[in-house]
Parts: sequence; structure tokens; C-alpha cells
Amino acid sequence: MLRMKLRNDKLEPGTQPATELIFGEWYPALRADTLARGKSTTALLLGVPLLLGRKNDGSIFAMRDLCPHRGIPLSAGWFDGETVQCRYHGWKFEPCGGQCTEIPSLTQIDTLEPSKIYAGAYPCREVDGYAWVYLPEAGAGRISDETKLPPVPEIPKFSSKFRSAHITADLPCNVDHGIIGLMDPAHGPFVHQAWWWRSSASIHEKTKHFEPVPDGFRMSSHAPSKNSAPYKLLGVYGQDVTTTIDFTLPNRRYEVIRAGEKWFASLTTVTPVTPSSCRIDVMACWNIFYNVPLVPTIASYFGAKFVRQDQETMVQQAEGLRYRPAMMLIDDADKPAKWYFALKQRRLTGKGEHPLQGPVELHWRS
Ligand code: FES
Ligand SMILES: [Fe+2]
Repeated sequence: MLRMKLRNDKLEPGTQPATELIFGEWYPALRADTLARGKSTTALLLGVPLLLGRKNDGSIFAMRDLCPHRGIPLSAGWFDGETVQCRYHGWKFEPCGGQCTEIPSLTQIDTLEPSKIYAGAYPCREVDGYAWVYLPEAGAGRISDETKLPPVPEIPKFSSKFRSAHITADLPCNVDHGIIGLMDPAHGPFVHQAWWWRSSASIHEKTKHFEPVPDGFRMSSHAPSKNSAPYKLLGVYGQDVTTTIDFTLPNRRYEVIRAGEKWFASLTTVTPVTPSSCRIDVMACWNIFYNVPLVPTIASYFGAKFVRQDQETMVQQAEGLRYRPAMMLIDDADKPAKWYFALKQRRLTGKGEHPLQGPVELHWRS
């Protein structure tokens, strides 16, 4: 898998401004293929320490990596493919639901019922190659009915056969900067200058149409940028090419490109690792060039270069953000960023209107 770790160790965690996080949502914790049967591993998600693993029957789980008895990380203990055992006093837990199955110190005269005790365990699903974890709002209690949860996000697919690829990169800034960097149209000519993508000389005026969707907005279906090489490739099918880009809270950008029977779809998420750091994951599927060998490899190579350019820029930005500068958002190029902040505020406070009351046209040069 393609994973871009941060190389700049000057950027210690905690040096970056934190932001408020949205709980009550599914987030991708890690690649599901890193979870082998009978093994466990750890991850941080929204600042919550997780113990993730795969049971012998293939099911995956995500526990809060803290023993409910006295707080030692459960990852310090043992997992035998069925049960997680704490290394301090040996309490045992069924990891998918978190229920305690054994307290070794209890005697025959004890009345404490271990099965009434639960370690923190979160709903965990395997979709598009990721282990997605649902992190409830604080105080929401244990989730007993997973059917009431929102669906796990998924890449839209338009045929039964398709190829896929994914890219992951750590970003040293908080999730807000990661997200507005993702939706920012004006950095393209400067950050993504490359012969295979586009040149800065190709900068020109654009008009884009947006419309509201629940908890987000859509860049309405349109013919994609003609000055970018990947889009030129799609044109070889001689079909009308349409693109739709949706952003929805808390962190998702869906892009769908269709040309007749051929399609490319991606889901990009920016996931808070802590309140002051995040990670970008690009998951893509397509049926273009299905039978051409090496296309997934080449696609990942170019996609990775693209993400690497964003990552390098955000590492540089993080150097400045440590000093907590004020931020300017200008019209129209930063308008999607303004909508994001308004949508997020609305979600966190439960108050306010959707920032788009209807279709909107934006103009910028890129
Ligand atoms: S701290 Fe885990 S069993 Fe005591
Ligand atoms: Fe970018």
C-alpha cells in the first residue's frame, strides 16, 4: 500500500492549533489488510486510543485501548483470536462488543457479575479496504443497536468489475486545514505543477456551479477541466464526460467521473488523528483501462505524487501555523471553505441554516 509518513520531525505533536472534532460519525481508522486473523494493532482516531484486531472468524473489532478496571492499555495484554485479556489483573473481554467474560480474582462467594461490565468497544466495519470505526458522541453510552447508525461511507461503483487503489498521507495540521486544502481550487497551478497534470501557464478563469446537499454541497455535474491530463485520457472514449464532486460532513469528498460505460470514482477523507493532526486517505475505483496491465500501479504512482505535493505544502504551512496566525478566506476561491466552516458550526451547535439556500455560481482563476 502507498503510505506517506511525515518525514519532518520538527513538527512535534501538540505544536499545532487544535480544533473541535465531530463525533457520531464513521471514520476510516486504518487499512483492513493490516489486520491479520488472530492479531491486533493500535491506532489513534479523533484522539481516542484504539485497539483494533481480527478474530479467528474473520470479524474485525475496535476497542477503546484502555482497560475499564484501572486504565492500562489493553494493547499491553494478550489477544488469542477470541478474547482480549488485560495484562494487569487478567480480566478478559469479548472484543467486538466489549463484554467482560472473566475476572480471575473473583471467588465463589463474590456476587459481582463480570458480564455486566463492558470495556469500550465501537462499531467497526470493513468497507473499500478500510476498517471504519463509528465514534459516538461523548455520553452517548454503549451502542446496542447498530442498525440505527448512519451507513458506512462507500465509493459509488457503476459496474461489477473494477480496479481499485488507495493512498494515505499523514498531515501535520488539524482536520480543518486538511479539509479546506482538499477543496481549495486556487492552489492547483502552484502546488500541482507537473508535466503530466498541468502547467501554471494554463491558469484561466472558471465558473463552477454548486448546489446544497444534506450536510454538504455538490459541484454540479460538468465537463471536467480540459487542461488536466487525466481528464484528457478519459476523452479518448469520445463520450461526453461528466464529473460530480460532493463534499459532505464530517470529512468526505466524493468524485465521480462518467463517460458512457466507463467510470472513475473516488472517496477522499481527511480524518482527525488527534485534535491537531490528521491523515488523508484517497480510495479510488474505476473500470477505465480495466484490462490494461500496470494501470493501477501507474495510477497510484501519479496519485501519490499529487498527494505528496499537497502533503509537502501542508508540512510547510504547519511551520507557520505553529504561531497561530489569523486566517483570511476570500471570495470566491475560498467560498467552499467558508461553507465548510458554516456546516461544521451548524453540526456542532445544532443551530443555524445551511450556508447554501439554493444553486450558486462561483468564479475563480485556476
Ligand atoms: S487494569 Fe485491566 S484488569 Fe485490572
Ligand atoms: Fe491539492
